Amino acid sequence: MIKFVSVDRVRPGVTLARDVYGVDTFTGRIVMLKAGQTLTMAHITKLMGLDLQGIYINEKRVAREIVSDATKRDLINIFDEYHAHIDTASLGLYTEKIEEANAVLASFVDTILERDELHFDIENFDFHENLRYNHALSIAVVCIAIAKELRMSKGDITELAFAAILHDIGDSGVPRELLDKPAKLTEDEFDIVKTHTTLGYNALLSSSAVSDHIREGVLSHHERYDGSGYPKGLHGKAIPFFARIIAVADVYSALTSARPYRSAYQVAEAIEYIMGNAGRQFDSGVVKAFLKVVSPYPIGSCVKLSSGEKAVVAEQHPENPLRPVIFLIDDPTAMIDLYNDKCFYNVVITELIEE
Ligand SMILES: [Fe+2]
Ligand SMILES: [Fe+2]
Repeated sequence: MIKFVSVDRVRPGVTLARDVYGVDTFTGRIVMLKAGQTLTMAHITKLMGLDLQGIYINEKRVAREIVSDATKRDLINIFDEYHAHIDTASLGLYTEKIEEANAVLASFVDTILERDELHFDIENFDFHENLRYNHALSIAVVCIAIAKELRMSKGDITELAFAAILHDIGDSGVPRELLDKPAKLTEDEFDIVKTHTTLGYNALLSSSAVSDHIREGVLSHHERYDGSGYPKGLHGKAIPFFARIIAVADVYSALTSARPYRSAYQVAEAIEYIMGNAGRQFDSGVVKAFLKVVSPYPIGSCVKLSSGEKAVVAEQHPENPLRPVIFLIDDPTAMIDLYNDKCFYNVVITELIEE
């Protein structure tokens, strides 16, 4: 894939996908480096001295590991024990288990916070073939990213991650056939599924090692900012803060996963849904932070426009990741700002493409 990157982000070893031009005082535009050239540090230093917006490089798509396999395994084991314990005893969690979980969670939070770039495509989070685990862990990652953007303390972020991982723990008390029903639920069935919020809260009640914030996050993750949620129909800031963050991550994860009765939404469609519900279903401040960490069209990716043209994403707008600044592949000198340029208001990105 060809990627357009700013020169300061280029690393030695990549190859140029297109010629790089410079200006010679006597002869005018000249080729400084040819396509196919593998760049060394000396080349990069030279490129830095030119007034370039960026260069085109060849990039192999590599799957990015978000957390190590060992951490994933540890978290999944602990998560498994929670479920087993709640299923059998309904007495809450052992304090030692929570302490063990906190140590693993702290390293989980560290690994994610250490990434200087938290702007990621979370479409392909693939932690575990068990969808319930995959859902819990991907929500935790999104919550951590949002929390970092909101400048929450590390202690609060770790607690939030814990609440995110446990948010649907009450599902253990809901009949399996309802959770896995390959069709839309009837109203009565949905009423039963809704009890997972209070079931989860009650299961965590007897554990003194779980804070009130975690319990409230679990209880209220289906509350909606406009009061349309459950179990209590709370409004706005009356909804606990952790729950307002989990709600956004939860809906995003649910929409981008396939269900037996519908296919998965595209990342861009799910973002559009969440943006459209800022201040209605969701806390606008949380949505604002969420928009800064999800990236349907990462910088350097190739996209197709509704006009039929192909373009490369050059810059993001934190307010709206769906309308970045782009270059047309057929005319790289023209930079188009899909967010601010009124002439292009009717042009939308229709899909990500391989170039
Ligand atoms: Fe839930
Ligand atoms: Fe959920």
